[in-house]
This record gives sequence, C-alpha cells and structure tokens, in this order.
Amino acid sequence: MAGVIQLRTEIPGPHSRALLARRARAVPRGVPAVSPIAVVHAEGAVLTDADGNRLIDFAGGIGVVNTGHRHPAVVAAVRAQLDRYTHLCFPVSTYEPYVELAERLNRLTPGSHEKRTLLVNSGAEAVENAVKAARFFTGRQAVVCFEHGFHGRTNLALALTSKVMPYKKGFGPFAPEVYRIPFPYCYRCAEGPSDRSRSQCCMASRERLERIFAATVDPGSVAAIIMELELGEGGFVPAPLDYVRALAAFAREHGILFIADEIQTGFGRTGKLFACEHYGLVPDLITTAKSLAGGLPLAAVTGRADVLDAPQVGGLGGTYGGNPLACAAALAVLDAMEAERIPQRAQRTGDRITARFRAWAERHPCIGDVRGLGAMVGMELVTDRETRSPDKALTSRLLAAALERGVLLLSAGTCGNTVRILAPLTAPDALIDEGLDAVGEALEEVAQRE
Ligand SMILES: Cc1ncc(COP(=O)(O)O)c(C=O)c1O
Repeated sequence: MAGVIQLRTEIPGPHSRALLARRARAVPRGVPAVSPIAVVHAEGAVLTDADGNRLIDFAGGIGVVNTGHRHPAVVAAVRAQLDRYTHLCFPVSTYEPYVELAERLNRLTPGSHEKRTLLVNSGAEAVENAVKAARFFTGRQAVVCFEHGFHGRTNLALALTSKVMPYKKGFGPFAPEVYRIPFPYCYRCAEGPSDRSRSQCCMASRERLERIFAATVDPGSVAAIIMELELGEGGFVPAPLDYVRALAAFAREHGILFIADEIQTGFGRTGKLFACEHYGLVPDLITTAKSLAGGLPLAAVTGRADVLDAPQVGGLGGTYGGNPLACAAALAVLDAMEAERIPQRAQRTGDRITARFRAWAERHPCIGDVRGLGAMVGMELVTDRETRSPDKALTSRLLAAALERGVLLLSAGTCGNTVRILAPLTAPDALIDEGLDAVGEALEEVAQRE
C-alpha cells in the first residue's frame, strides 16, 4: 500500500525556499524557523508543503494538535461559531461557550473540590495569571521553579524559564522573587549520573527537600511551586513518582500552592487527560494551553475556587481571553478526547514509539536514554554512554535527515540533544509506523557517519 509520504522535490523545495527568503526580509530572526518548509495544507498528521510534497507531522505545531490538524468536529464547531459572533470581550458581555468550557475544565481536572477557570490567550499568559492568583491568595511573593523548566517568553514566565540560550540571554532584568531548584532528572542527576529506577529519586525525601529549600528560599515566603510533571522543552523528562509525592506533601505543610504546568503534557499526550493523574496529584492550580483548542489560541488556569476568586474584580481578564471561536474549538476538542478515547490511544501509540526507540538503542550507542509518559516519548543522544555527553550536532543531523525523508521532527532539552515526538494522537498506527521507519533510516544514516 502506498504510504503517506510523497516527495516531489528536494526538501525544502523552491517554493518553500522562496517563502523563507521573504520571511527573512519581513520577520525578525529571533522568531526561529525550526524547519525550512512552508506549509499550505495540514490534515490529521499530514502536511502538504508549498512544493506539493506530503510529509508526516511528528511535531504537531509543538504539541498543539493532539486531536490532529483540522479535526472535522473542531472545524465544524468553529464554522458554526463564526456565524454567531467572533468577539464580544468576556468582561463586557457574557457568552455561553466560555462558561461551558470553564464548567467542563472544572469537572475534568483532578479533584472534586470547587473550582474556577480563567481563560487567556497563551501558555505564558496562563502561567503569569496562575502566579498572580497564587501571590494574591497567599500574600507571599516567592515562586519556586525548576532547572530545565520552560514556562514561556513573557517577563515573569521567562524568569521562571530555565534555558538561557536562546530564551533568556540579553533579555533581563527578569521578574524578582523567582527561585530555581534542581529538577529530578535521574539521567543527569546532580548527585552524579544514576541508573536508579525512576520511581526512586534521591531527592525524594523530606530532609533532602528541606536542605534544598534551606539553600534557596524560606518556604514560608513561597506562594507557589510551578512544575512540569514531564519536562517539555527541557527534554521530555518525567518526574519520578516519589519525588512529586514528597514535594506535594512538603508544599502542603508549608502552605505553598502547587501549580502543575500542563501546557505541553495536557489533553491526552501522556496517556491520561492530564499528567498529574499519573501521580495521584491534585494541584491547586493547573495551567493548560496548546492542545486545549486544537489549533486555535487559547489557554486556561483551572483550580481552587478560593484561590482564583481571591483577586479583586478587574484584577484578572483581558480583551481577547476566551475568544468565542477558540472556546467553541476547545469544547469540540474535549468531546473528541472522550468520544475517541484519545488519552488511551496515546498510551498505545506511546508504547509503539517506545518499543521502536528501545530497539534502536540496542543497535546505536548514541542513544543514551529513552523515556516518557504515554505518547510524550523522547530519546536523548550522547557522544558516548559513559560520559553521557550531550550530542546536539548529531541530533540536528538526525532531524535534517528525517525531514529529507519526509518527517517533521523536533528536538528538545537544555542541550538540544533530545529527539521528541509530538505527533497528533489521532494518527493511525500505519502512519506512525511509516514515520518511525523514515526516522529509523535517518538514524542509520547519521549514526553510521559518526
Ligand atoms: C510547559 C509549557 N509552559 C508554557 C509554555 C508557553 O506557552 P506559549 O508559547 O503558548 O506562551 C510552553 C510552550 O511551549 C510550555 O511547553
């Protein structure tokens, strides 16, 4: 049977190159062009570029289209909403799609306590608002975040973000009262590389957490800890279960709110609707964005009613937050998550990807680690397994070789040496296999050149 990938020109072809040349003259270079292709159509997990090439999308708009490009129900919901109204400004006129989405997120997020949801436009904005509410509610100023964490590019979100190049360099001063502690990254543990089971973290004890805070910030002055339960941009590193449990207990004892940043992990990616479900964790606040609205810009802060109701009237909101088209799309996404059992499907797809990565790791010593929850799977490339020295150059070559074969793939990690897959979770097995075959061939080629 013919596959999905159809290449008519070299990648990038002449039309892609021409648009990228126009882009370079019109758009600041600070906005990265991670791939050199110009896309004219996207459907499911398939991209058609400006030269008529058909490619497999393993990037999913960086985790935005878990339900696939142009999911029919999402398209229909947005079309129907277009005929009603496209903007009213929620603080000015109330409309049902915003309220209904808030009700559904309040119901779907872990915990049966009373909740509220605030809708905003981007992940960074959700993070900023979660911190605002946590500070207001606790009357405390400090926020604790993690090494390797990514929370966005606005000033406070950037202060919480860890990676200096390219995100932070030259952009200071950053928002104050932000304290960073080590992420439980077993493969690169600060205590020395460890092969310990990931359910047994060496930082997962009360004493250890107390020592970490004693060297960083008084827990009594901390409003919130913000954590990605599996690092996204930081390299697809899931936090060990015992660490998260110990940290959540520590936070509770000290009156610190736990903000789970589920912007990349959310909406089925990890095999559950939210990653915190893997940990039995009920966060005080959850930030979501990306796949929430299946390709339309929307983000949310969902959590404890007492926390989110604390700020005064007018203290939260914005002109566009909870745009009606985006809300209609999100409601269709949530329907699809349930009807198509997308989180369960993600677990199966993830098992498929993990099996392939593990088989490659047996043949290629450049693969140092394979890890992830559900379909949020990554493999870390190293120059050799002893030193675990990150191999960013090889990672870049692998991405380029995969693209030449028709697969759009992304890297991640503070050292840029993790290959991550963010394919739409609706992609059929045959398409995932075809994409993995192409990545496998690309790996053979670049690993052989080593
Ligand atoms: C975990 C996490 N938080 C926050 C953000 C920022 O989201 P946005 O780019 O929508 O501002 C991202 C984006 O990649 C993310 O992965």
